[in-house]
Amino acid sequence: MKYAVIMAAGKGTRMNSSLPKVMHKICQTPMIEHILDSVKEAGAQRVISVVGYGHEIIENYLKDKCEYALQEVQLGTGHAIMQAKQLEGLKGKTLVVNGDTPCLKSETLEKIYSELDGCAMVILSAKLDDAKSYGRIVKNSEGYLEKIVEYKDASEDEKLIKEINTGIYGFDNEILFEAVKELKNDNAQKEYYITDLAAILISKGYKVKTILAKNNEEVAGINDRVELEKANKYMQKEINEKHMKNGVTIIDSNVTYIDKNAVIEKDVIIYPNVYIQGKSIIKENSVILPQSMIVNGKVGKDCVIDSSHIVDSEVKDKCTIGPYAHFRMNSVVESENRVGNFVEFKNTHFGYHSSCAHLTYLGDSDVGSRVNIGCGVVTVNYDGKNKYRTTIKDGAFVGSNSNLIAPITIGKDTVVAAGSTVNEDVEDGDMAIARSRQEIKKGYGKKYKSK
Ligand code: UD1
Ligand code: CA
Repeated sequence: MKYAVIMAAGKGTRMNSSLPKVMHKICQTPMIEHILDSVKEAGAQRVISVVGYGHEIIENYLKDKCEYALQEVQLGTGHAIMQAKQLEGLKGKTLVVNGDTPCLKSETLEKIYSELDGCAMVILSAKLDDAKSYGRIVKNSEGYLEKIVEYKDASEDEKLIKEINTGIYGFDNEILFEAVKELKNDNAQKEYYITDLAAILISKGYKVKTILAKNNEEVAGINDRVELEKANKYMQKEINEKHMKNGVTIIDSNVTYIDKNAVIEKDVIIYPNVYIQGKSIIKENSVILPQSMIVNGKVGKDCVIDSSHIVDSEVKDKCTIGPYAHFRMNSVVESENRVGNFVEFKNTHFGYHSSCAHLTYLGDSDVGSRVNIGCGVVTVNYDGKNKYRTTIKDGAFVGSNSNLIAPITIGKDTVVAAGSTVNEDVEDGDMAIARSRQEIKKGYGKKYKSK
């Protein structure tokens, strides 16, 4: 069996935040969720998050995506692992990962699992020019690992060591839970350090080894918001480069924000200042112009999306959207549509080859195909208490500045005259005019002007 423990009980004092550190986001996803995804991808069958400070927030967010162990008072990383009692005595391999290392890749974690064969403990280390306050990897003159020493406990010589502990480890599970019983807190921080397990296991004759991380940015721990921003940039660059290699043009990667779960097909072009979040899909050949935001949205092939928001909604093939359209709450825009210039669709199905080009609100509506919605049409879907649906059937022509008071059906091939406020159904083939008749006052214009 393969297990993983994510240590996430600390407050993260240096973040200066009331939110637990591991809930701060990188590329729109909390750090702990990135780690959870990576350990699962690496093959962990059971994952325990050790939580403490703000644990309700973490548990509410992750729900049953992992198991939890509560560390009520945070007495150190060694004390944290002792709380994962559900794993005690089980046969298998266990990854132990600090909850503040969000950029960690599953390939690296897979390597730790495989390096554990015949070993009691594997430590992922890194070589840094500026080793900051990381724990140091201390080796003897023959290059054999001796111990990990925390910065606050290190001698001046040890502080010069450039190889550091990334806070990512693999253990033989049974040996791990036997050895944690021997941890003591006789150190500078009066904490139980997981790092002391290296020396303990070596003294018992177990094999303990370090493996060097390939990339220092991948294993960086986040302790403050400056490091958070750096990690965010690094992960964004990795995500964007993956898409570019798959055939997506990104005009300026520094200002393009794509979440890791987005799927973007080849020959899509993404302009600056675009956000693609959640489980979004953009199909082949579409162009996403600046200031667009796509959140759990789908965009079909050959579309142009200009400065628009598509939230929990779908735009099918060959549509021209925007500038400034907003689709939300399960709206669907069928193919070959033109929708734009300040148009909002809420929970609306907009049929094939229709048009809604300017200043319109369609809420809770079902619109057929080849419908023309004029400028400034409003579906009046809310009476202050309840919401009602509007149906506009194929081929209808709804004139500009009309109000359609729901519940209402506008039939097939109908015309609603511009400026109408319609509150009764219009049958197929009919025309509705619902506005006062025009009066002409001869010569009044001239008279008025000359006053
Ligand atoms: C730790 C390591 C250090 C390593 C560094 C890498 C120890 C003693 N030191 O130091 O060698 O170089 O990570 O980033 O492990 N946590 C708990 N309960 C606690 C204390 C911490 O769950 O009682 C969690 C924190 O929420 C955090 C992680 O463990 O996610 C690491 O804790 P942190 O205080 O950041 O450790 P470092 O001082 O960075
Ligand atoms: Ca840390």
